[in-house]
Amino acid sequence: MKTTQEKAARLKEEIKRLKKEKNALIMAHYYQRDEIQEIADFIGDSLALARQAAETDADVIVMCGVHFMGETAKILCPGKTVLVPDLKAGCSLADSCDPVELEAFVKAHPDYTVISYVNTSAAVKALTDIVVTSGNARKIVESLPADEKIIFGPDHNLGEYINSVTGRDMLLWNGACHVHDRFSIDRIIEMKKAHPGAKVLVHPECRRPLQLIADKVGSTAALLDFARTDDAREYIVVTESGILFEMRRKCPEKVFLPAPAEDAECQCNECDYMKLNTLEKVYEALRDGRPEIEVDAEIAARAVRPIERMLELSK
Ligand code: 13P
Ligand code: SF4
Repeated sequence: MKTTQEKAARLKEEIKRLKKEKNALIMAHYYQRDEIQEIADFIGDSLALARQAAETDADVIVMCGVHFMGETAKILCPGKTVLVPDLKAGCSLADSCDPVELEAFVKAHPDYTVISYVNTSAAVKALTDIVVTSGNARKIVESLPADEKIIFGPDHNLGEYINSVTGRDMLLWNGACHVHDRFSIDRIIEMKKAHPGAKVLVHPECRRPLQLIADKVGSTAALLDFARTDDAREYIVVTESGILFEMRRKCPEKVFLPAPAEDAECQCNECDYMKLNTLEKVYEALRDGRPEIEVDAEIAARAVRPIERMLELSK
């Protein structure tokens, strides 16, 4: 019988072989399992994954992330095959914005510009003027005239953060991510007492009190960058714990402490959707050419403009 390590090593070899055979590119978000980040050709935040998808000359993109990330890649590259190893890898934040409800809200506010976070379905993007990620939301909002009326959704916490740093008063959708909305300030304060020298890194999808006590608020890539260039030795990381793999790889001399969810027994907070992708499913996706992401052509034609506008405005 094969050990788990032998099985993983064999799968990695097969993935390497199939990748070459099919001219495929494996992309992974920082929240993916460690072993998927290990075999990925490209690891990034949502913005970097969208940029890379727009630029690649691969025939097949294996998007190791969640469904909306695969959809974004497919909308940008309609001629390519885009695979997501497990199509059930959804996103609670994307689910918190129903396109029918958004359409009614937009109709009730006809003079507003609609800005949607990339964590949305293609149908929501199709109702949007500009897509943003946590990595470029501030820059994009600031590029608009100060008196522009804006609807921002679906993440309420990110919207509050952007309002606070830009001085805007955007109308916020009331959505949230079930992972980031579950971090508790009390447990982070306890950790800070035990590690007084540790700096606190917070994703802007976390609640406002956590944003206020953070040493750095930023997208996954921005938090990584901060950890790499900052001079502290210890960090409390208040985002999905998959990111610790890349933080430890980039800064082996530093200590990264995952922050727990308020009701969790364990010392971390994982996105169960992100963790649905496994090495075995990546192998099967490459081998079988499925599950493939499909986007309705009419929706894709409308959704591509706000995504391209984002890429243009965040250059
Ligand atoms: P980033 O854009 O920071 O990678 O975040 C994506 C995400 O899903 C956060 O929960
Ligand atoms: Fe969606 Fe939250 Fe998971 Fe990110 S961590 S993919 S926002 S459910």
